[in-house]
Amino acid sequence: MNVFDALTQRTSVNYFDTSRLVSRGTVLQLIDYAQKAPTAFNIQHTRYLVITDAESKAALKDIAYGQQKVADAPVIILVLADEQGHLLMPDIAQRGVDAGIYDNGVRDYLVGAVNNSYAANPAFAHDEALRSASMATMNLMTAATGLGLATGPMIGFDAQRLKEAFHIGERYTPAMMITLGYAREGNWPGKPRLAASEVAVLDVQAGAQHAFSV
Ligand SMILES: Cc1cc2nc3c(=O)[nH]c(=O)nc-3n(C[C@H](O)[C@H](O)[C@H](O)COP(=O)(O)O)c2cc1C
Repeated sequence: MNVFDALTQRTSVNYFDTSRLVSRGTVLQLIDYAQKAPTAFNIQHTRYLVITDAESKAALKDIAYGQQKVADAPVIILVLADEQGHLLMPDIAQRGVDAGIYDNGVRDYLVGAVNNSYAANPAFAHDEALRSASMATMNLMTAATGLGLATGPMIGFDAQRLKEAFHIGERYTPAMMITLGYAREGNWPGKPRLAASEVAVLDVQAGAQHAFSV
């Protein structure tokens, strides 16, 4: 499936085929695609907890205010935003050197810039991590659609309870829960979207008023 079809065909699925499982290899493949998403300085703030057993999914369903799809989908992926993802930057930047992409000077610049940007600015680090996790989530869902799988992004859950139940460390913000599996019949088709012409202003000029000025 090409990317345009995947973007067009993806919908948030409510009803999963409970008899069809998703292999661990496929889940890892999807996470690798999610990891292709861009992140500021290539920090890669996103972490993934993959949940498949019935008991844990039942606990998750309760935390997600009883949403049945959480129990029905064969795989639930908890997408976490690591607010201290920048601490990995020395390792990440070194990998760019090892891959022959840039030299030690660029590596050291990147490590310093990341430290300056985030170390003393937790609110910015929090926002950045959530941005990154959101982009990774979209990549994952698009890739899943391309493989014939169905997904549903979810934020309808009690984040504090989720963190407690799954022993998620303080530095990680649950960005999204993704249900993953194969769709069964009865799901809604893609819902209408506002047209580009309704949500975009073209040729905006500095100093000029536009549709989003008030
Ligand atoms: C951040 C986010 C959180 C969402 N949370 C839920 C949720 O808790 N439960 C649910 O059924 N759908 C949830 N959705 C799915 C939206 O309802 C859905 O994306 C929207 O209605 C558009 O439909 P579509 O994804 O099928 O195009 C969420 C979507 C996003 C992006």
